[in-house]
Amino acid sequence: MASANAGRSSFLLLALLLCFSTAHGQLSETFYSSACPSLNLTGIVNRVLRSELSNGNQRMGASLLRLFFHDCFPQGCDASVLLGCDASILLDDTGSFTGEKTAFPNVNSVRGYEVIDQIKTNVEAACPGIVSCADIVALAARDGTFLLGGPTWNVSLGRRDSTTASWSQANSDLPNPASSLATLLAAFGNKGLNATDMTALSGAHTVGFTQCQFAKLRRSNCPRTKGVNDTVLAPLDVQTQVTFDNAYYGDLTKYKGLLHSDQELYNGGSQDALVKKYSSNSAAFFADFVAAMIKMGNISPLTGADGQIRANCRVVNN
Ligand code: HEM
Repeated sequence: MASANAGRSSFLLLALLLCFSTAHGQLSETFYSSACPSLNLTGIVNRVLRSELSNGNQRMGASLLRLFFHDCFPQGCDASVLLGCDASILLDDTGSFTGEKTAFPNVNSVRGYEVIDQIKTNVEAACPGIVSCADIVALAARDGTFLLGGPTWNVSLGRRDSTTASWSQANSDLPNPASSLATLLAAFGNKGLNATDMTALSGAHTVGFTQCQFAKLRRSNCPRTKGVNDTVLAPLDVQTQVTFDNAYYGDLTKYKGLLHSDQELYNGGSQDALVKKYSSNSAAFFADFVAAMIKMGNISPLTGADGQIRANCRVVNN
């Protein structure tokens, strides 16, 4: 009996390892240099983002950072629908297919699809059929962060694009703003991200906005009555909404988090000390944020002969 249980446990462990592998061995910073030596990929991404942000749309830096998170998190165990950082979120619904765009955490909420299209168009003009949409999303998140004043990092490349997406996985895997600290820790833990990663990644809420329907706490920018104008926007960071800094953690220590899930990080629980540290030490926050973004970008990428390089990020190739 004991050995049957031990056998079952090791089988489950193996299944979990296969399921949540971060198989990033084949990713590399110079991935495209032999297939397209003349391509200045980072330059193209950076130019499109700079022009977008300087046209009065600084929020787009935040939106692209969130797009990457929402691409990477939904992840299945079935090898035929193995989803991670694979641009699955970019696939449009068709008559016979429902993708992730209409999942609850994404619908009427995730932004930036047109900016990714623009980058992809420019990249295709330079080197057709070589660069994945998944890598473009990873680079756009990095540059969105940096252009708002945040840290930068080297992005390993070579992710390929999925040929499918999962509406149900997007619903089940993306964390809900009403979550408790324990639920948040479990959701990130399921992706191989530890408590430090979770608290550092949540610092992305130093930029961008939320619709008032999600605001549970500081509702000063929102209509007084809940249910009225739920789509009015309020800044996630009360102090510096388009600057990527550590002010979000200062908000939390003053109990001025906007989402319930934000304030859960500083509410007498295990993350209080780290939140306090980040609130007074932006270098520590930046270092942990970068490490966690790199880890998140390595969630189950499709590599080698898996997946494809989509010609149009919104549709699977014929
Ligand atoms: C810890 C769990 C998290 C929860 C529950 C959560 C939830 C939310 C919600 C409800 C919004 C507002 C959406 C809307 O009003 O349409 C939002 C916005 C945002 N989230 Fe999160 N989030 C989490 C973690 C993250 C992570 C890990 C990142 C990136 C690394 C991120 C980046 C962002 C950004 C940048 C925005 C603002 C987007 C914009 O203005 O377009 N979030 N989040």
